[in-house]
Amino acid sequence: MSKHLLSIEDLDREGIERILERAQSFAEVSGREIKKVPALKGRTVVNLFYEASTRTSSSFELAATRLSADVISVRAAGSSIEKGESLRDTIQTLTAYEPAAIVIRSPHAGAAASVAAWTDAAVVNAGDGKHEHPTQALLDVFTLRQRLGSLDGLRIWIVGDVLHSRVARSDISAFQKMGASVTVAGPPTLLPRGIEALGCAATPTLERLPEADVVYVLRMQHERMQEAFVPSLGEYTARYQINATRLRPGQLVMHPGPVNRGVELDGDVIDSDASLIGEQVRAGVAVRMAVLYELLVGASALAAVA
Ligand code: NCD
Repeated sequence: MSKHLLSIEDLDREGIERILERAQSFAEVSGREIKKVPALKGRTVVNLFYEASTRTSSSFELAATRLSADVISVRAAGSSIEKGESLRDTIQTLTAYEPAAIVIRSPHAGAAASVAAWTDAAVVNAGDGKHEHPTQALLDVFTLRQRLGSLDGLRIWIVGDVLHSRVARSDISAFQKMGASVTVAGPPTLLPRGIEALGCAATPTLERLPEADVVYVLRMQHERMQEAFVPSLGEYTARYQINATRLRPGQLVMHPGPVNRGVELDGDVIDSDASLIGEQVRAGVAVRMAVLYELLVGASALAAVA
């Protein structure tokens, strides 16, 4: 069993299914009045977030707490990271508390893998730059399975700023492993060259969007754009915004959050029956409980593929 969850490639379909089954049982626990289980009692989970986060950080915190772990949450702002302490020194410092797991989000691709080399703790990648966000992919698959039963044969379109999206990279892989076909769509400047090598189709227009069963909308990631990738937001919105006029009845809409309301996604769609966004957020806690459980307690969910 691989000790860490650094990439969705650490999991095969069987490993993903095992985590999702575990998540299902934790979702049931979350429906009870007492939402805690003693699985990680006496063990410590460190959450280290070097980048903005609402959903991911709060759900990891809640997940570890509901497993009865002791939880330390460190944010870049207000910590010694701000004073210039290197990631390696920060990990060394936190290692003194003998954590069982370190959950890390960083603006740098590969940061989680580096941490895994420096610590005995199990490391969970909560987003490393443009690279990967494996627990988001797991919760997205969980959400779709809850609603549809299976992803086999499902046609999923991922629309928008694919270039800067670690969610897209992890989702393309996870959705395909679970039997779905994936098409990415967006302005050519926001579609990575050669993305088809990941097994998906790519298109610069939404003409064939009605073919999609699920429309997965991505946020325009302004913070990762050093230059202008689209002529204007108005132009982007006119061509690529997902709104009622572009959707056909029965299509489901997802978004990892946070949404730029009125840019990549129209506000009315977010609040409509087509939207799974609220279910994605809810799934986050049970899925992250399952990931921590499998890494720290469970037997062999994470079969090393490498
Ligand atoms: C995503 C992220 O941080 O990569 N958000 C999230 O984890 N819910 C997507 C995004 O920021 O657009």
